[in-house]
Amino acid sequence: MTKQVISAPAPTRLFTSDNAAGVHPDVVAAIVRANESHALAYGLDKYTKQAKDAFSKLFDADVRTEFVFGGTGANVLALACILKPAEAVVCTSWSHIAVDETGAPERILGAKLIDLPSLDGKLRPQDLHSVSHLRGHVHHVQPAVVSITQSTELGTVYSPSEVREICDTAHELGMLVHMDGARLSNAAAVYGATPEALRSFTIDAGVDVLSFGAMKAGIMFGEAVVFLKPHLGNRAEYIQKQITQLNSKMRFISAQYVELFRDGLFFRLGEQANAMALALFERTKHHKALQLDRAPQVNSLYPILAQPARSALQDWSFFWDWDVAAQQVRWMTAWDTTLADVEAFAVGVDQALKM
Ligand SMILES: Cc1ncc(COP(=O)(O)O)c(C=O)c1O
Repeated sequence: MTKQVISAPAPTRLFTSDNAAGVHPDVVAAIVRANESHALAYGLDKYTKQAKDAFSKLFDADVRTEFVFGGTGANVLALACILKPAEAVVCTSWSHIAVDETGAPERILGAKLIDLPSLDGKLRPQDLHSVSHLRGHVHHVQPAVVSITQSTELGTVYSPSEVREICDTAHELGMLVHMDGARLSNAAAVYGATPEALRSFTIDAGVDVLSFGAMKAGIMFGEAVVFLKPHLGNRAEYIQKQITQLNSKMRFISAQYVELFRDGLFFRLGEQANAMALALFERTKHHKALQLDRAPQVNSLYPILAQPARSALQDWSFFWDWDVAAQQVRWMTAWDTTLADVEAFAVGVDQALKM
């Protein structure tokens, strides 16, 4: 059988992952500025002070912030600070900590993840009740932390009241709440792309500790752990070093965050990524075969794509399979995706579906 080839020009940018995007030029410029002279190492520099202050301003509270190398490191540090021996983390079976961190939480924390099934990537209060009977029994691991992801691994978004219900239930049951915020800029865009929007489903909703992601939102490297209840991070600096997440040249992480928060760039970039996913949905939804029956909430689409269209498109402009058995793939937009990229990609989809 001859291989089917798409002849249209491929889009400049990929629809593979928001991690495939580069770094916003203003952030690059901030890194270059931070490179001008010497600075004290391990976070004792002025950029780190400014960035930590910027986090407190963002959350309108005296939060404690620590910077780590990446998102897995942020999740592991956050959980390491709030888990005690014999305690467990409750999460969904889709959660990044359960499926995409190569067992880092289990290995480094020595803790069990209780990963519960979820159709939409969200946990609900009844899920917490379903494991609460384990608490207080000597033969059972003790569920102590609930970890939710915002926006979720399935491209869904918790509303502020849904987060509030999870937090209230967890706290009533004696558990703390960690939020994996690898895509917080996208989630904030759903509720208005402002600091108030961000607060509404984090600090105002009762979240205790946050993994604050910005690499997908347009920075080069480094994520933050924000202790919204600062006392929970009392031993953070020691644990951070012990789990290999203390960067000596911290200023290059921090300078990026100063830039990202200076003028609302963080929020604008999340809005752009979401808007482009919506544009791609609008441009491709008429293809019934894709089964795109619901508009994306954030920056990912999960169409059904049968062969030979799937391979032809992936060879032309690569994207990941999502559920091979269901012939489902993932298309994801990023902070720098343009309407021209969307149109170019959609022309390829049109061609592929005629094959
Ligand atoms: C939900 C979620 N959490 C955390 C991360 C961070 O992972 P990494 O360690 O690759 O930065 C990702 C990255 O894809 C993610 O999607």
